[in-house]
Amino acid sequence: MRHWSQARRREGASLGFVPTMGALHEGHLSLVRRSRGECGATVVSIYVNPLQFGPGEDLERYPRPLERDAALLDREEVDALFLPRREEMLPPGFTTKVVPGPLGDRYEGRSRPGHFAGVLTIVAKLFAIVGPDRAYFGRKDAQQLALVARMARDLDLPVEIVPCPTVREPDGLAFSSRNAYLSPGQRTSALCLHRALERARAAWAGGERRGAALREVLRQGIRAGPEVALDYAAVVDPDTFEEGEGTLATALALLAVRVGSTRLIDNSRLDSPAQ
Ligand code: PAJ
Repeated sequence: MRHWSQARRREGASLGFVPTMGALHEGHLSLVRRSRGECGATVVSIYVNPLQFGPGEDLERYPRPLERDAALLDREEVDALFLPRREEMLPPGFTTKVVPGPLGDRYEGRSRPGHFAGVLTIVAKLFAIVGPDRAYFGRKDAQQLALVARMARDLDLPVEIVPCPTVREPDGLAFSSRNAYLSPGQRTSALCLHRALERARAAWAGGERRGAALREVLRQGIRAGPEVALDYAAVVDPDTFEEGEGTLATALALLAVRVGSTRLIDNSRLDSPAQ
């Protein structure tokens, strides 16, 4: 992989990189298209990273439709598909990890201890192997994006982190590889995430600026039912992820919800057009 990247660079191409765990959907493909439009060559990696799954999570059953993924990337005319093997990424004796700052312990990090150390460690390795000029990340995983951007800045990694908008199905459900786990009934229930975010956006548009009140709008939008359980609802500063007191000037709404046994996350800026 590194030799391939070096050869492209010698030819003068800028390198775009889209790291994924596969089971590709329109969200992933939007990142690929953005990279194709901005870079001379585009690399996509597929690696279901064991380090970022906790005990009892869905590592084993995570979908791995490799042939379909490869065909989709072929159609997008991606220049390289990088499929590292587990023993290459995590050889025996592998011990070093990237430690996220305090943001790594909140929201997703609180619900999934060790998750972001696992994400950052593997992303740092992938950056070191691929050596991209730009790497594309979705706003769908807002906290991941913020932590990766911070890692790149804090560790002086020579890569530009490019945030990309969340891509949704026509009814508002954000594309996610985990949507494949949902039964038809659960998929309908899952629409409550987008609906709750839209209600919070409407409240903001109507002048509501109190964080606690906006959070309550989110909570009300996720009505617990036999199949739906709220993990967290938060309204935070989009840069620091701090929950502000009093009147907010900017706001990012975060949601994590369990639908059946499937955990879904979504988020939305309240103070700007949907993205
Ligand atoms: P994965 O969940 O496969 O997502 C790969 C990239 O696609 C991430 O940057 C994610 O934010 C983006 N993405 C997912 N759904 C999206 C949507 N609906 N719209 C726009 N972008 C979307 O995130 C990971 O993999 C892993 O943590 C990884 C970064 C690969 C490290 O293992």
